[in-house]
Amino acid sequence: RARQAIETHARLVPDFPEPGVAFKDLTPVLAAADGLEAITAALADACAGADLIAGIDARGFLLGGAIAHRLGIGVVAVRKGGKLPPPVIGVDYALEYGSARLEIPASGIDFHGRRVAVVDDVLATGGTLAATLDLLEQVGAEVTDVAVVMELEGFPGREVVGAAGRGRVRVHNLCTG
Ligand code: PRP
Repeated sequence: RARQAIETHARLVPDFPEPGVAFKDLTPVLAAADGLEAITAALADACAGADLIAGIDARGFLLGGAIAHRLGIGVVAVRKGGKLPPPVIGVDYALEYGSARLEIPASGIDFHGRRVAVVDDVLATGGTLAATLDLLEQVGAEVTDVAVVMELEGFPGREVVGAAGRGRVRVHNLCTG
């Protein structure tokens, strides 16, 4: 059902972000009532067993809240650097050009021993998710699952996430692209 919704609603953008690449834009899928329902139902199934959802800046926020609500658990936003009030725990990670930073609250949420599922829209190089797994490990959480709508082929994302999760994290996708 989720795959069907993606096929129905995703928008293919030719030659983006570079010539020869057809970019699958998931924005219209989430904007359609049946699309959001199918996607969040499938991702919630993948995250069953977690007791906290972590949604990655920025499209992971759209998914994370809906999934957590379905499962009757809470959600935390993993944010780009400089957005959260102190104290925070952050990790810097390399991008193709330059670097980026992700942060989570260092106070107010007891992560210790929590079973966390991490959600995002796309897995490509795996850098974003690996940094998120590092962060959650630092605060004593146990990441059980990573769930994305789309896993891009031709990138080592799954292996990078697997290594960051020390082989203990299941990686789920709803489609590849
Ligand atoms: C995109 C996407 C993932 C990440 C995946 O976000 O939403 O979070 O890249 O790429 P990776 O596997 O190579 O790390 P982006 O960094 O474009 O930020 P945005 O959500 O603010 O647009």
